[in-house]
Amino acid sequence: MPRARIVATGAYVPEKILSNRDLEKMVETTDEWITDRTGIKERHIASSKEACSDLAYNASKEALKTAGLKGKDLDLLIVATVTADMPLPATACILQDRLGAHNAAAFDLNAACSGFLFALATAEAYITTGMYKRVLVAGAEVLSRATDWEDRSTCVLFGDGAGAAILEPAEGEEGIISIKLYSDGSKGDLLEVPGGGSRVPCSAESVKEGLHFIKMKGNETFKFAVKTLEGLVTGMLEENGLRSSDLALLIPHQANLRIIKATAERIGLPLEKVLVNIHKYGNTSAASIPIAMDEAVRGGKIKNGDYVLLEAFGGGLTWASALLKW
Ligand code: ACO
Repeated sequence: MPRARIVATGAYVPEKILSNRDLEKMVETTDEWITDRTGIKERHIASSKEACSDLAYNASKEALKTAGLKGKDLDLLIVATVTADMPLPATACILQDRLGAHNAAAFDLNAACSGFLFALATAEAYITTGMYKRVLVAGAEVLSRATDWEDRSTCVLFGDGAGAAILEPAEGEEGIISIKLYSDGSKGDLLEVPGGGSRVPCSAESVKEGLHFIKMKGNETFKFAVKTLEGLVTGMLEENGLRSSDLALLIPHQANLRIIKATAERIGLPLEKVLVNIHKYGNTSAASIPIAMDEAVRGGKIKNGDYVLLEAFGGGLTWASALLKW
């Protein structure tokens, strides 16, 4: 069975930047608190005309251009998101139409901040079984629309953006070596948007109570992430006979600089080998890994033959890692 490999990436963030100083004028917070506790300095916010599919479209167009492909060349299109344009149709179907990907099946996938890795694993499975040859995977979020701008414990964390990757069967040893996905629904209440679904349908009352906004038990989520990520990463390395020194780059989900640093420290990886861009974008959920990966590729931080490790955790709870040979 051939491996699946990433042949091109793309990314897009909206133009508008919201800085920590701007947030100081909106809620009781400070640039110092946000920087010390999270590493975030600014985040990008979608314009009122931009929805999830618009961000995904811009990132996907860039990936297609880099690959020298057109939308019609795609067999499958997966969008990982928790902030779809609307409940129905799927954002992936809206994207399929805009890209002219008329030969492609399209669906959305929800695994919160781990969404891109869950989508990558799905794409890999379709490619290695031979069902599809060319798959576009996008992680796209407009979290600013699910953010309570009066809640300082969450509104300082999130940003909007999208990233995309195109996968094809590999010809040699390069590609996805292994992907591991995990979920624990018993901890779903750590991170949720309680309203707007079939449990609590959208109503004047649910909106008044702010149930359509993200609620997070930040500290518990933080502890869970730090505890879980070390084992996740070391497990992936051990199973594949590698040490952290064999990695050219770790691309973590960008949720909190303290979480990223703790993981790198615990596995003995110097910070120079960790892609960090949280200061520019905040937590963009499913978009964070593909945005960071695109930055690494375009910045020349990954060369052919390099081992690259991706890891993420998020609502669900969900967590995942992927080992790639570039
Ligand atoms: N400015 C100033 N003070 C604040 C702010 C703010 N923006 N937010 C909270 N505080 C206060 C709190 O009220 C609290 O005050 P108190 O001690 O008087 O009660 C104090 O700061 C400490 O609050 P904690 O929540 O304990 O702070 P913590 O160190 O845990 O940092 C944070 C909070 C940044 C949210 C951290 O817990 C975190 O990053 N958690 C993980 C988030 C995450 O990764 N989520 C998963 C992915 S998201 C997804 O899947 C969509």
